[in-house]
Amino acid sequence: MRTIVITGGTDGMGAALARHFLRTGDRVVVIGRSRAKFDALLTTVTGNDKSAASRADFVAADLSLVADSRRVVEHLQANHARIDALVLAASFIRQRRHATVEGHEASWVLFFISKYLFVTGLAALLHAAERPVIVNMAVPGARDDAIDFDDLEMREGFTFARSNAQQRRANELLGILATNENPDLAYVTWGPARLVRSSFAGEAGKVMKAAAAVLGTLLGQRPDAAVSPIIGIIGTPASGRAAYRGAKKLTLTVGNHDDEDAARLATAVGDSF
Ligand SMILES: NC(=O)c1ccc[n+]([C@@H]2O[C@H](COP(=O)([O-])OP(=O)(O)OC[C@H]3O[C@@H](n4cnc5c(N)ncnc54)[C@H](OP(=O)(O)O)[C@@H]3O)[C@@H](O)[C@H]2O)c1
Repeated sequence: MRTIVITGGTDGMGAALARHFLRTGDRVVVIGRSRAKFDALLTTVTGNDKSAASRADFVAADLSLVADSRRVVEHLQANHARIDALVLAASFIRQRRHATVEGHEASWVLFFISKYLFVTGLAALLHAAERPVIVNMAVPGARDDAIDFDDLEMREGFTFARSNAQQRRANELLGILATNENPDLAYVTWGPARLVRSSFAGEAGKVMKAAAAVLGTLLGQRPDAAVSPIIGIIGTPASGRAAYRGAKKLTLTVGNHDDEDAARLATAVGDSF
């Protein structure tokens, strides 16, 4: 039985994956803030299969907090001998800069630092899997100069676009660090082929919310349909880094200084977190 860990597994595409892997007999660990959403998810799969509940685990955590991310990593280390697939799908869109109670910028922690702590902290459990895979739902293809190393938490000049591009680039660099550490690992950055009709959790302005609601309803894909390529990637992972838009494999973005930037990022995270 595979063990599949899904952050943001209570809603949207993460929940679609959790439902799928519970139906196919895998062990699934769901991480999110809402136990009520997890309970609702479970009732949709346990109707026909009473064993699903025994294979499902929920860990409540706010992954915009460093302490919560560390606590979940420790919980997984203590309770699992192996992780076959790690899906990083937690998302809470903030159009404005937001400092958490820990004093860090919330989006930088949720969309990158938390993922960094999971990927590095769970490395030994991923090593224990025969064909380990990480699917990081950070849309690939950010410019190679998207990271401001002098102000990673964007105390100056925060915009949604800058914050989004920086975390996407950082998550691609995280793939370099992770596959250097474990050459057998498949590390995939993945974005959907088009808008997905998900919960769009976040604190967005009226215009962004309205656009997401209208476009999502008119053009959006259902989460269950959108995640079909991810199910394929997890089923037959290929070691090394890869990037996908939907089912389409993309050419990896290669910058002039990727290895240096990856090392610099690791040092910066080590110094601050
Ligand atoms: N939807 C799209 O069209 C689209 C496009 C491009 C990229 N993506 C990416 O695809 C991934 C999934 O997106 P989605 O739209 O399917 O997500 P979604 O429906 O908005 O769901 C977000 C998930 O993240 C969890 N979450 C939110 N804040 C959290 C926090 N602070 N700590 C822990 N969990 C938290 C939510 O659970 P709780 O409520 O239980 O906390 C929920 O399970 C994300 O990485 C997103 O950036 C989506």
